[in-house]
Amino acid sequence: MNEKNFYDRLRPLTFEEYPGQDKVCEHLKIYTQAALLRDKPLDHCLLHGPPGLGKTTLAGIIAQALNMPLRSTSGAIIEKVSDIVGILVNLEPGTILFIDEIHRVPRNVEEILYLAMEDYIVDVMVGQGLSARNMRMDLVPFTLIGATTQPSRLSAPLRDRFGIVEHLEYYNAQSLDLIIQRNSLLLGMEISSDASHLLSHRSRGTPRIANSLLKRIMDFALVKDKKRIDISIVEEALLAMEIDHYGLSKKDRMILQTIENRFKGGPVGIDSLAATLNEEPSTLEDIYEPYLIFSGYLQRTSRGRMLSDLGKSVLENR
Ligand SMILES: Nc1ncnc2c1ncn2[C@@H]1O[C@H](COP(=O)(O)OP(=O)(O)O)[C@@H](O)[C@H]1O
Ligand SMILES: [Mg+2]
Repeated sequence: MNEKNFYDRLRPLTFEEYPGQDKVCEHLKIYTQAALLRDKPLDHCLLHGPPGLGKTTLAGIIAQALNMPLRSTSGAIIEKVSDIVGILVNLEPGTILFIDEIHRVPRNVEEILYLAMEDYIVDVMVGQGLSARNMRMDLVPFTLIGATTQPSRLSAPLRDRFGIVEHLEYYNAQSLDLIIQRNSLLLGMEISSDASHLLSHRSRGTPRIANSLLKRIMDFALVKDKKRIDISIVEEALLAMEIDHYGLSKKDRMILQTIENRFKGGPVGIDSLAATLNEEPSTLEDIYEPYLIFSGYLQRTSRGRMLSDLGKSVLENR
């Protein structure tokens, strides 16, 4: 099974199959029901939060709940005005247009989006020089769902045009436990409750991480000829993957260690830290830092990143 098939099989299609994010789901269920009752498109919706928590999944669930087509794209591949106009003018009425990484759309594309979101129209310039003129096109009603790990990078006018703004938080262990048990069954392998309990505490509050660890654990189980995932196989696999007692990966620990050893515990600016670790600053900020900050190992101050006392204790005991 390739990576894509694996994750597609595990992707929940309804709110019922999506544990956790209770507040967000409660809101979205009401808003989708209201939209159905009014027979009007759902308000534009911005989902923000760290990677792997279920933003893309929710966009699919919303489309399913409204029984509307889903059109997905990403801010990373929309480069020109013509890219977004091409998408907008071809939407079917009521489509859920999902733009992942929406903070990455260029400014001139954002400007097209404002008007499209507000009035379902696009204004484009056609022709060149003296014959250039403005052409206005009507769009069908649609709902934009934007997802981002960095809402502060959206311009204020774009942010203001989302009627619904929801923040996704890291999952608690109980919700992850449910997800792990369900997914083991979907993949045709039973998991003992102490095994899924352990894994739920080592997945950094993130379903995507729980799923990818589960996939590796299943490889271990297969090779060791186990019919069922028990706690010993989880422990063995986590050890082999260098996931520590706190669920931190080698890279997470390297970040904490670098601040401690090279920068005397900080504060250190993100650019110097990234350069020392040979990473892009945005990778540190988007992928690694959010969980380290959420868990209290790392602090973000006006002078840079600092290791907390808790972070120091993580380095001492593993
Ligand atoms: N609440 C949830 N219940 C079950 N699986 C989830 C949940 N949230 C996310 N997942 C799974 O985690 C993975 C990452 O989710 P995704 O929606 O791609 O995250 P994001 O878009 O926020 O980065 C997917 O495989 C998805 O099926
Ligand atoms: Mg996503």
